Amino acid sequence: MVDEKSMAGDVYFPAPEVIESAHIKSFEEVHAAATADLAGFWGKIAAENFEWYQPWETVLDDSNAPFYKWFVGAKVNIIHNALDRHMHTAARNKAALIFEGEPGDGRVYTYQQLNHEVCKFASVLRSLGVRKGDRVTIYMGRIPELMIALLACAKIGAMHSVVYGGFSTEALHGRIEDSESKVLITADGAWLRGNIIPLKQIANEALERAGAVQSVVCIKRTGQDVEMVPGRDHWYHDLMALPIADPNAPTEVMDAEDPLFILYTSGTTGKPKAILHTHGGYMVGTATTLKWVFDIKDKDIWWCAADPGWITGHSYIVYSPLVLGATSFMYEGAPTHPYPDRWWSLIAKYGITILYTAPTAIRGLMRFGESWPSRHDLSSLRLLGTVGEPINPEAWKWYHRVIGREQCPIMDTWWQTETGNFMITPLPCVPLKPGSATRGFPGVQVDVVDEDGVPAAANEEGYLVIKTPWPAMLRTIFGDPDRYVQQYWSRFEEQGWYLPGDSAKKDEDGYIWVIGRIDDVIKVSGYRLGTAEIESALVSHEAVAEAAVIGVPDELKGNIIKAYCILRQGFDGSDKLEKELRAHVGHEMGPIAKPATVEFVDNLPKTRSGKIMRRVLKARALGQDEGDLSTLAD
Ligand code: WTA
Repeated sequence: MVDEKSMAGDVYFPAPEVIESAHIKSFEEVHAAATADLAGFWGKIAAENFEWYQPWETVLDDSNAPFYKWFVGAKVNIIHNALDRHMHTAARNKAALIFEGEPGDGRVYTYQQLNHEVCKFASVLRSLGVRKGDRVTIYMGRIPELMIALLACAKIGAMHSVVYGGFSTEALHGRIEDSESKVLITADGAWLRGNIIPLKQIANEALERAGAVQSVVCIKRTGQDVEMVPGRDHWYHDLMALPIADPNAPTEVMDAEDPLFILYTSGTTGKPKAILHTHGGYMVGTATTLKWVFDIKDKDIWWCAADPGWITGHSYIVYSPLVLGATSFMYEGAPTHPYPDRWWSLIAKYGITILYTAPTAIRGLMRFGESWPSRHDLSSLRLLGTVGEPINPEAWKWYHRVIGREQCPIMDTWWQTETGNFMITPLPCVPLKPGSATRGFPGVQVDVVDEDGVPAAANEEGYLVIKTPWPAMLRTIFGDPDRYVQQYWSRFEEQGWYLPGDSAKKDEDGYIWVIGRIDDVIKVSGYRLGTAEIESALVSHEAVAEAAVIGVPDELKGNIIKAYCILRQGFDGSDKLEKELRAHVGHEMGPIAKPATVEFVDNLPKTRSGKIMRRVLKARALGQDEGDLSTLAD
């Protein structure tokens, strides 16, 4: 229990009217109830707020931990709750999605209209042979059809695997291949800063390398000529005009524990892993966290400015707002196009009430100064949020003062692809400290511990751990259950704690301050990238024999990538080659993965077993103490 009067540091207390109108008025009360009876807590929420075809026998089955199961025996489909049930209420005529394209075009989908499209596309997918349990890869920009594609897959029980539209050839190829997708859904292109990202062309190159895809569905967005392979490729609008596109397509009845989707993310080592989420628990967790943390009300316009290609978009653009019957806003393009006030003008134009974005975006917009936001009426905003990386107090305060008029609490939400929903986060009623995500969501027991699992002293750095299961938790790594256990549950096996892979501190008030990753994951502008994938892109270039990459702190992007390469015989390091290697990584992985610098070296620090010691490289790059070098080979 926090004694608010004696809290340490810079504290922002919520205004009484904010607490008064919020769904949850006392964090302590709800947290205590959840702690006393976790299964009872979630069972009650699940029963009261969602429709199930058939109720569960057991809320939480932990008999085979860490393979936890939630709502065991229940029948459900998240689409029934996100769309079907709204057809019988006033929500049918409400805007589900308000979209503005980068060129300035706009579209609004009511729940009825969105359901109509989803039903039609679901039956199109069925006619292409997609069945329950099949995987479908989706590779698109931020447009409504992306949302429709995800929802259509879920409706028929297929697992979508979204590959972020900013990724490129090899990243797409690897994910298609690993998931054994039969169908790829893409678009001709995506708008970004007035330019076209040639998605279909990249997809064609990726498919030349991959085998199993039988059908490609292509949405026309940017309109340039693209190469369509006869027999394999179809235009979305052609398929949707056929009689097979049934606006009354039935929703597949699923077990609560059936897979909803996989999403690839980078982990400690090796290639990206497919995180698997399910229909029941994910639905309950994401909708409840959104409702409580962002206090979603009927009249809100919610803008989660993330990309649906990452977990933030899956959970908080596509699924949970629809389950709550809320209105979402989606913008296709860059925040600064054509001018640095595009976002602020959108907030004023649509009367956005809640904005949720990443610290890197705030820092980027901050650079342009206050005059850009101040020329727009931002008074519709009532809550703000951030995610993806620690927010520096300076950016927090700018966001609070300039965008939030000092009246909008900032919800700094810590969570991961794996957790499915917010885990460490304030609620509007919780006192805030700039830079801290505060405490665990009700029912989530978080702590900071040392090597042996002993709680770290106040303000001492340690491992972040989560001590209790939660409904939206990942169930496994698709196709690799051993790795699931090894990666997340082996470090504190005895205690049965989940290891997120972050380091953190806990202050004297129990507030958590996340510091960053302790593994080979690099967060660049909030995007999660793995060293292994970037290194493998580098060595796929003919000049490179060996490569190592590290993240180096950067004021704007959080981290930037620094690469070290050992060249093959016959190649010499030059500015030209550095440029070529950066472009090569851009082509294989995507622009976000491009190293900021490439250094040519003769050797790399390795352990005697041949593992590259990135920690040593990083210490050298930052001019810090290299630490324990006893395992270094020479
Ligand atoms: C980092 C994004 C500090 C963290 C939803 C985590 C954060 C990783 C925060 C997951 C935050 C996310 N404060 N760090 N509020 N939110 N992170 O899977 O390192 O793309 O482990 O999920 O982002 O990244 P992912």
